[in-house]
Amino acid sequence: MSACASVSGAAEPAPAAAPAQTPEWRLVIHGGAGVIVRGQMTEEAEAAYRAALLASLEAGAEILRAGGSALDAVEAAVIVMEDDPLFNAGHGAVFTAAGTHELDASIMEGSQRDAGSVAGVMRVKNPIRAARAVMEQSEHVMFAGPGADAFAEAQGLDMVDNTYFNTDRRRQALERVLEERARTAADRHGTVGAVALDVNGNLAAATTTGGMTAKAAGRVGDAPLIGAATYAENGVCAVSATGHGEYFIRVGVAKTICDRVKLAGESLEQAATTALDEVAALGGDGGVIVLGAGGAYSFVFNSEGMYRGEISQSGASTAIYRDE
Ligand code: GLY
Repeated sequence: MSACASVSGAAEPAPAAAPAQTPEWRLVIHGGAGVIVRGQMTEEAEAAYRAALLASLEAGAEILRAGGSALDAVEAAVIVMEDDPLFNAGHGAVFTAAGTHELDASIMEGSQRDAGSVAGVMRVKNPIRAARAVMEQSEHVMFAGPGADAFAEAQGLDMVDNTYFNTDRRRQALERVLEERARTAADRHGTVGAVALDVNGNLAAATTTGGMTAKAAGRVGDAPLIGAATYAENGVCAVSATGHGEYFIRVGVAKTICDRVKLAGESLEQAATTALDEVAALGGDGGVIVLGAGGAYSFVFNSEGMYRGEISQSGASTAIYRDE
């Protein structure tokens, strides 16, 4: 039996059942999975996370409501979380063992399966903008390290000193991990991501992370790897993942899910649960958001909770704990 928690919406297609209302558009987001237990979070902290998730949802929904693209929507939703120190993305990202920040991001659109990503960037304020610039302004899919920052700068993106990403909370986490020589699950999590469907039937996915606390300088996780944390294919599904990146890379989680949907005809939830069970069998944990071509969606995670939310023309919802 799987240890995954899952929540699905807008009804998976069911043979001979009345069709669920097809949303014109939908945006689904996550703000990281991890040990998030009801009762261990203050009311203020919970309210702050829910408000931040709603702000991200609304940023993307504004675009989708007006007929804009899924690609613009996932970028906008992720930027809100990159700018919010609650999340392990831009400002508020975790520290490397060297006391710096190295950020990873990727973006993919489903019509042509165009994709772009950056790994280990240290100066671009919003890594997801850099990933999109790689996709649209270069002949490549992935840039890494100083060359990725230089590319972003040449594209006119906002650049910052690496200390812009500092927060006291993440500094304290670094000091604790270095002293105890051990990471808690929370130290390994916090990636943000979004998947969207627009009124033209286009799917898109985006993921950004600071990685794991006290990671070795140069370590790259799953977030910038197309097929590991991010995947989108029109007519199939869009996925963004959060969790212990090494395991998500080895399983190729995002592409595995879309392939199982496409080739095996599995439901979003079945495909995601199978992929996360593979992650768990190897020793990893985390979660995914999955959005299907018809607007059905699923949150699946094998961690104690996942910051998450969903919005369509029917309204918005957020959730944090496993039992929501
Ligand atoms: N999932 C983010 C990371 O492991 O870097």
